[in-house]
Formats: sequence, structure tokens, C-alpha cells
Amino acid sequence: MLNFDFFYAWTKEHLNINLEGYKEKQLQRRIGTIMKNTGAATLEEYAVKIQSDPIVKKNFLNYITINVTDFFRNKEVFDEFEELMVSYLEPKFGALKIWSAACSTGAEAYSLAMIMTNHNIKHAEKITATDIDETILAKAKKGIYSSVEIKNVDEKNRQNYFTQEDNAFYLSEQIKKKVAFKKHDLIGDRFGTGYNVIVCRNVTIYFKNEVKEELYQKFSDALVPGGLFFTGATETIYSPEKYGLIKRASFIYEKI
Ligand SMILES: C[S@@+](CC[C@H](N)C(=O)[O-])C[C@H]1O[C@@H](n2cnc3c(N)ncnc32)[C@H](O)[C@@H]1O
Repeated sequence: MLNFDFFYAWTKEHLNINLEGYKEKQLQRRIGTIMKNTGAATLEEYAVKIQSDPIVKKNFLNYITINVTDFFRNKEVFDEFEELMVSYLEPKFGALKIWSAACSTGAEAYSLAMIMTNHNIKHAEKITATDIDETILAKAKKGIYSSVEIKNVDEKNRQNYFTQEDNAFYLSEQIKKKVAFKKHDLIGDRFGTGYNVIVCRNVTIYFKNEVKEELYQKFSDALVPGGLFFTGATETIYSPEKYGLIKRASFIYEKI
């Protein structure tokens, strides 16, 4: 039996990561697999390796944070959100204050920035894009992607906002400067306030139910009335009114 109590306390103290909020079985299976790949037989041994070897540490962090993302992820839902930005959010609020939470490589935040640029929608401030993983944030800030990573970007946006050099696609400064990245842990760090839009997709699925419920309340509190909360395409909120939200479209909720 692996000593997860020890390991959870150790990661909290030494890496400042709270693993207690994540669904246990899934997470422990993942940790067991990556631990064995390093040759460690126990979590105590694995902790020593994480502390002494930066590569083991980086692999551990990458493995538990699952960074899969896409520009305009779930295109039909994104299209619906784009439509709401133009027909509802812009007329109602004018300039928008937006938070892309658990942003991974920035694809989501940059997709929003492209939509805003295309429709001339004003920013109240730069889009705030946050993630717990500093390595992925460093990549996001660079704005350099492979052809696979931008496969969902349509031809027009590709031509307008990317330049290609060999196999790399460089996002334009025009879009990059509209997004500000910073480290933020959804479990434990404070939330901002006054948002017109919060996008948090494909991360709450990894959290325990009670943590998820707490987060929905915090997201609702962080929105202004009429603001929209955009979730992932498997993250339906049951009884959204419990959190002061109503369903506006599939995976899009409005703060009452
Ligand atoms: C599957 S990706 C989703 C990326 C993007 N939102 C999307 O839907 O395409 C999940 C992201 O959540 C981040 N993450 C995991 N735990 C987190 C936490 N406690 N606080 C903030 N971000 C977290 C991971 O680092 C990863 O980048």
C-alpha cells in the first residue's frame, strides 16, 4: 500500500500543491504509474527523487496537471459563446473583464482575444489567464505553437494572427498583448471580482464533488450580475440556481 497521506502532506509542504481536492482514485493511479517509471518503490523514495532531480520534479508536475487543450475547443460550443459575446455581452457591458482559469498553453484565452479583435469588442483590462503549472504558463506567454496545436484555428485567423517559420507558428503581438498570464491555484488561491466572463473548462472534472461545488460558488461570486460562466463540454452544472446561476446555453451559465 502506498502512503498517500504522507505524499499529500509532503507535496503541500514542499511543492505548495494541495492534492486533496482532486478525485482520489484517478490521481493515485496516475501518481503510482509515474512513480514506478522513476524506479522508486515507495512514495517516500519518490519524494526524495522529486526533491533531488529537477527532471523528475518537472515530469511529476506535468503528469498530474494534464495540459491537453485546443484553440476554439469544442467548436460548436465556442461558436455559441462567440455569438453571445457579440449579441449579448458587448451590448450589455461594453468593455469586458475576462478570466480564463486553468488556461494551459493559453489557447483558450488567445481564442477569446481573436474573437474580440475580429468583432472589435473592447477589453476593460487584459484577459487574465491563469494556471497552476508554471512550465505551461511560460509556453503560453511565448505564443509559439505547432501545426497540430493550431489545427482548429480557421484559415482567416491563421493568416491574420500567426506567422509560420519552419514548423512553428508564432502568434502575433496584437493578440499576445491582450492576455496577461499568472500563476493561480484554483484550490486555495483567492479569486478576483467584477468579471463579465469566466471561462473554466476541462479542469473541474479532476476535482472531488465538494471542491467542485465550492468552486462554482466562488466563480459565481466573482462574476457581476449578467456575467457568463463558460464550462467544459462534459461539465454540466446540475441545479445551477444553487450557486446563483441560470443556464443560458449548453455549458454557458449566467449570473443572476
Ligand atoms: C485539461 S487542461 C484544460 C485547459 C483548457 N481550459 C481547455 O479546456 O482546453 C487542465 C488545466 O488545468 C490546470 N490545473 C490543474 N489543477 C489546477 C489547479 N488546482 N488550479 C489551477 N489550474 C489547475 C492544469 O495545469 C491544466 O493546464
